[in-house]
Amino acid sequence: MSERKKLVEVEDLTVQFGSKRHPFTAVDKVSFHIYQGETFGLVGESGSGKTTIGRSLIRIHPTSGGRVLFDGKQINGKISKELDREVTRRIQMIFQDPMSSLNERAKVDYIVSEGLFAQGHQHLSAQERQEKVAKALSDVGLLPEFASRFPHEFSGGQRQRIGIARALVMEPDFIIADEPISALDVSIRAQVLNLLSKLQRERDLTYLFIAHDLSVVRFICNRIAVIHKGRIVELADSEELFLHPLHPYTRALLSAIPQPDPIAERNKVLLVYDPACHHYSAENPAKWQEVVPGHFVLASDEEMAEYQKQF
Ligand SMILES: Nc1ncnc2c1ncn2[C@@H]1O[C@H](COP(=O)(O)OP(=O)(O)OP(=O)(O)O)[C@@H](O)[C@H]1O
Ligand SMILES: [Mg+2]
Repeated sequence: MSERKKLVEVEDLTVQFGSKRHPFTAVDKVSFHIYQGETFGLVGESGSGKTTIGRSLIRIHPTSGGRVLFDGKQINGKISKELDREVTRRIQMIFQDPMSSLNERAKVDYIVSEGLFAQGHQHLSAQERQEKVAKALSDVGLLPEFASRFPHEFSGGQRQRIGIARALVMEPDFIIADEPISALDVSIRAQVLNLLSKLQRERDLTYLFIAHDLSVVRFICNRIAVIHKGRIVELADSEELFLHPLHPYTRALLSAIPQPDPIAERNKVLLVYDPACHHYSAENPAKWQEVVPGHFVLASDEEMAEYQKQF
């Protein structure tokens, strides 16, 4: 089998906020890679660092340590203008809240085509630009005539489609979808997910899909990383993670998923994660370890021995 191409490689990524004297580490030595064409899930509770990771990959947040490689080239820290322009086009982000992420005073036409101007596409004629916008709108299932309207004229689902069109118009390779359906009505969530997977199939897109709930990512992600307080605690193929969750935090997240069967739901035991359960020390430190091929967990050697018994 040929080696799968790693489009995104993240090594020991660290992101800090606050002052030099009192830094707050929001992302702590996180490592993972994303294969070309896959959907990689990043799941964890509020404040765990998911958006910060997304925003560092897209170069909104400066990184404090580690490396981010995109298509083989380092893109964090100081990079050339050409490379900056290249990644600004090739990496796009879709935001959680379509109600606040669109400029209310701009027409859809401007919102969708704004990125093209930043990319030096000023030479585009008004007609070429209109055509690109019309194409992007129809690709996301909206009518081309919506271009002349304002965001407030649209529903949440339509607004999220506008956000997706704004990303697509750039013809990206990699899209960071930061909780793209959390703010939407349950009835239209599936439509937006289906749209994202259709676009992925048609264009060989690679997704980083951020969510705080494991049930959302189960069926759309090839692999899933679970993050807790800025550290990835477990990473595996989706099915593997659901079948053999190892880290107590992953198990707690899984136990919180609602069960369709009312009896199972009533009898379900909610696990609570207590970080004190680990007993890490200088002699017994937590390390990023591979339990079986492709299944990684943050664990001490003692814990690893326990985990390995489960296979
Ligand atoms: N610009 C900033 N300045 C200071 N602290 C920040 C900044 N952005 C994020 N943080 C802090 O970093 C931590 C991680 O935040 P982040 O937004 O990445 O979490 P998240 O996992 O995306 O959460 P949510 O599910 O609520 O979106 C939080 O403690 C947050 O308060
Ligand atoms: Mg977030």
